[in-house]
Amino acid sequence: MTERPSAGSFRTFVSTHRGAVEDALLGLLPDKSAQPARLHEAMHYAMFPGGKRLRPMLTLLGCAATGGALQAAMRPGAALECLHTYSLVHDDLPCMDNDDLRRGRPTCHKVYGDSLALLAGDALLTVAFEGVAAAGGPAVQALAKAAGSIGMVGGQVEDLAAEGDGAAHTIERLRWIHDHKTGALITASLLVGAHAGAGGEDPVLEEVPEEVLGLLRRYGDRLGRAFQIADDCLDMTGSAAELGKNPGVDLAAGKLTWPALVGLEKSQEAATALAEEAAGLAGQVVSAAAEWRSVARSSLDGAAKLLQDVAIYTVERRT
Ligand code: IPE
Ligand code: IPE
Ligand code: MG
Ligand code: MG
Ligand code: MG
Repeated sequence: MTERPSAGSFRTFVSTHRGAVEDALLGLLPDKSAQPARLHEAMHYAMFPGGKRLRPMLTLLGCAATGGALQAAMRPGAALECLHTYSLVHDDLPCMDNDDLRRGRPTCHKVYGDSLALLAGDALLTVAFEGVAAAGGPAVQALAKAAGSIGMVGGQVEDLAAEGDGAAHTIERLRWIHDHKTGALITASLLVGAHAGAGGEDPVLEEVPEEVLGLLRRYGDRLGRAFQIADDCLDMTGSAAELGKNPGVDLAAGKLTWPALVGLEKSQEAATALAEEAAGLAGQVVSAAAEWRSVARSSLDGAAKLLQDVAIYTVERRT
């Protein structure tokens, strides 16, 4: 897929806010030297220098697109990244995808051993709920649902169950897996951002209207699907240097993926169509938010552009 200049505003947004996201992450995690130091080292190893930081950026965008102040979404965004990183640490374990390269380095269990990687993942999951609490009860609920057995964990279970089970490989099953293992947390990132920005100084004062949340969910659904199809395609087209993880592992493991089912070209087309569908919803999201906030629609134009651009970025990316 060729680079489109339209993803530019999102790339600029990332470079502007990455430093603050890193600070929020450092503020949320216990210090590396806290006892037991080896556990905290393993947590820091998994978290830093990190990957794309897409989920905290989406938390910031969920906040901005619904008229909130970005600062309110920093700590909750860091929480999403901790939870996501836990999912990667566990995903790489020998009992799951058995990968030895992540974010350009040996996986957490390769360096710290299986049991410490398991427990570092547990601790990252737990600290995520400390961080999201700052965004209020509805945000905590949204994250809990998205991360648990009816969300990401459920998706991971089905992803593993489908491995090598070629006879039962269908698009419907694959969509279900993608929506759960990946889409749920991507959507939750946006929702948590909206909740975080809802109440200004006091996040429990205001509730985000269901209409706004519903539109964010529709946008997030398309974005999540596009993102995971792109991930499946990159497994076939990317290099270890670009991805920071080993390519070709899905095919080798007999994973149910988009390219395995319909081929690379059709998969890339499907991802682009979904990204465009998401981008097409951006205007509706900010219009509903502007009405709720009683602010001029034009005050959220920049945020709408960012929602469009991150959708395009999702399928353009090489990392
Ligand atoms: C990888 O997520 C796992 C998937 C859900 C496909 P990312 O591609 O966002 O990984 P990082 O956070 O940039 O390392
Ligand atoms: C992982 O999907 C999704 C989660 C970690 C929840 P993958 O197994 O495809 O992710 P990568 O390719 O290892 O990053
Ligand atoms: Mg996996
Ligand atoms: Mg994996
Ligand atoms: Mg993958």
